[in-house]
Amino acid sequence: MSHNTISLNKQRQPLDHLDSVWLFGYGSLIYKTDFDYLDAKPACIYGWQRRFWQGSHDHRGTPEAPGRVLTLIEEPGARCVGMAYQVTPDTFEHLDHREKNGYLRVFTPLHWLHEPGETGGVVYLASPDNEAYLGPASDAEIAAHIAKSRGPSGPNSEYLLKLAQALRDMNEQDEHVFAIERQLLALSP
Ligand code: SIN
Repeated sequence: MSHNTISLNKQRQPLDHLDSVWLFGYGSLIYKTDFDYLDAKPACIYGWQRRFWQGSHDHRGTPEAPGRVLTLIEEPGARCVGMAYQVTPDTFEHLDHREKNGYLRVFTPLHWLHEPGETGGVVYLASPDNEAYLGPASDAEIAAHIAKSRGPSGPNSEYLLKLAQALRDMNEQDEHVFAIERQLLALSP
């Protein structure tokens, strides 16, 4: 699959017939909200875990030297905490452009973190068949890769550090993210 998913997302999942859509963010969408929303609430999804296994050609790296950013990997029993945003369908013009480097929109059940109840929503996933996928590596390798990468949106380290802080602010323990953060901080002079 090509790593530019803008037209694929439009074809596969038209949303214009809906009044509003809940979007679940688990990576930069938690801490960088460069779009309007009607409501926002902490939420979680089950059966998925965050992993720094996706290449970034357009935000935290370049096509010649991709950075490493998050995707979700299926894992039975896992729980991934993030932020849900209620947006109008036209917001996906911007979001599809922002998430164009291999991410496909998928419908998923969302569970509210601090209140009972759930709703249906949309999440951006970069699956292993996209051309920008990098796959697993050790925490130390991922940290070293992040430490040396930067792209049009800034240093790759900023993506990791802002995400780790946002998860801490939500009282969320994510051992994958925090282990790579520790390795990255140990590399800094
Ligand atoms: C997300 O945040 O939900 C998608 C991945 C990213 O943009 O970091």
